[in-house]
Amino acid sequence: MNMRVVGIAGSLRIESLNKKLLRASEKILKEIDPSVEYTELDLKTIALPVYDQDIQDARMPENVLQFKSAIQNSDLVIISTPEYNHSIPGGLKNAIDWASRGDKNSFANKVVAIMGATDGMGGTIRSQEHLRVALATLNSFTIPYPEVFIRQAQNKLDEQGNFADDKGISQIRKLLERAITVTKKLQS
Ligand code: FNR
Repeated sequence: MNMRVVGIAGSLRIESLNKKLLRASEKILKEIDPSVEYTELDLKTIALPVYDQDIQDARMPENVLQFKSAIQNSDLVIISTPEYNHSIPGGLKNAIDWASRGDKNSFANKVVAIMGATDGMGGTIRSQEHLRVALATLNSFTIPYPEVFIRQAQNKLDEQGNFADDKGISQIRKLLERAITVTKKLQS
């Protein structure tokens, strides 16, 4: 079966540099393996409620169940995120919190490749560190190296996923190649 990959951006805004980085990553992914099936899970469109156990206990909302299924049915997850106030953006943390609840922790045993883009110099580094801690708690396998921090990304990325950064492209290629190798090993 073809490898199924989902991408999640930690920023909701339409012009998000992290959404653009996901588009660039999709291109790199398809160069590595043209048979990969890639889907972006856009947190703006999915519009999850703020996590509230009362909502969960009453009935898991349909969009939460769909989000959880999309992760569970994938082989590999790519997350590209900025940092907000030195940590994980609330929308992304909220999505992870929902995904961890219900019948099943959707991130259990899932391979996750983490990256991030920022218009500054380091506005993704601490968020990625915190994300690794949260995902380790959920028994995910985050790929430790290379760490991908794309600085001043507004000068390097466009809507179509064109990415004018040879070092960044090579880091993402390495990260995704490792993620695919680990995914295949875990499934064999
Ligand atoms: C930021 N930004 C930011 N940058 C940084 O270097 N350290 C930080 O702690 C923060 N905190 C922060 C909080 C909030 C609420 C916002 C909106 C922004 C800047 C942020 O990393 C930068 O704008 C990214 O480019 C945003 O990602 P997207 O939307 O381009 O994907």
